Amino acid sequence: MTARVGVLTGGGDAPGLNAAICGLGRRLSERGVELVGFSDGWRGIIENEASVIDPKIFQRLHVTGGTSLGSSNAYPYRDPEVSIPKILRSIEAQRLDALVAIGGEGTLGAAHRLYQEAGVPVVGVPKTIDNDLDATDFTFGFFSAVEVATRAMDDLRSTAESHSRVFFVECMGRHAGWITAYAGVAAGAEGILVPERPAHIEAICERLEQVRDDGARSAIVAVAEGTRVWEDGVCLSTEERDEWGEFKIGGVADRLAGMVSARMGWDARSLVLGHMQRAGQPIAFDRIFALRLGARAARLVIEKRFGRMSAMQAGEIVDVPLSEAVAERKVLTDKFLDKYESFFLPIGGM
Ligand code: F6P
Repeated sequence: MTARVGVLTGGGDAPGLNAAICGLGRRLSERGVELVGFSDGWRGIIENEASVIDPKIFQRLHVTGGTSLGSSNAYPYRDPEVSIPKILRSIEAQRLDALVAIGGEGTLGAAHRLYQEAGVPVVGVPKTIDNDLDATDFTFGFFSAVEVATRAMDDLRSTAESHSRVFFVECMGRHAGWITAYAGVAAGAEGILVPERPAHIEAICERLEQVRDDGARSAIVAVAEGTRVWEDGVCLSTEERDEWGEFKIGGVADRLAGMVSARMGWDARSLVLGHMQRAGQPIAFDRIFALRLGARAARLVIEKRFGRMSAMQAGEIVDVPLSEAVAERKVLTDKFLDKYESFFLPIGGM
């Protein structure tokens, strides 16, 4: 009987998802293994909505953006009594020998629990533009998002110069400042604000004052959406939490632009890059990177080494236990922050 492997893509999409499916599918089809794609992440496997992927599409699938399988934020451990038995039934109904979950911390966290608690033969592939998964140097999608954010800041410079304005450019990344930090450094931003460091409005204005005194007509400040802003030792950011108990994010660039305009009389504007950072085709690096991560996942399946994830460490494609990837969120390290110290806005005391 032909071996069959299931695949799903969960959580927010990221450029390179199709390349990961492609890398996985190509390697499996060389071994005569059928790849069964579930629709819309965990929703598809819970509802047993699946179809066999035609290997013919692997020629050019890696070039395309988004995910050909669809994605959703469905999460099986929200109602495990209902969802887990359904997942187990789908795996049986589809006659699967393994399941490959391509996703970030939520998707891979669920995959890890399925492996540990329900004995499902699972393999993971690390995806997220946020780059906040541990045990891998990078996740695919991250550098495509950095490219979009960098180009946006590059392009904004001319209009900022024309009108002598400060631009606060809000980048995605949830509670990690990776996209903002890489794009901010790449674009030569006058300041970078990340969740890993509290943003004090007094210190921000002080730095911008220096920039203006040095004769600059414009300033670009890269702001991570998860940055929390402080004024006179009081946190101004919302204390509202989302369904996961995390601080609600977004809107910080707009608040900062208003505060800086009012305090400094320097015309300040904001731009939220939003989902453009996930849109479009993956850059060449992410296509190749995701193809390789997908191919490594296929090898793990073939070798029956389950409960593991493909990863990049020191530039090499390796595999690691899923437990290591999901144990802790990977945020900007002190080493990174220190190295690019001059780009990060001074923080003052909390
Ligand atoms: O985790 C990826 C991500 O793009 C975050 O950077 C962002 O905060 C979030 O997803 C947006 O989610 P949604 O697509 O549900 O608005």
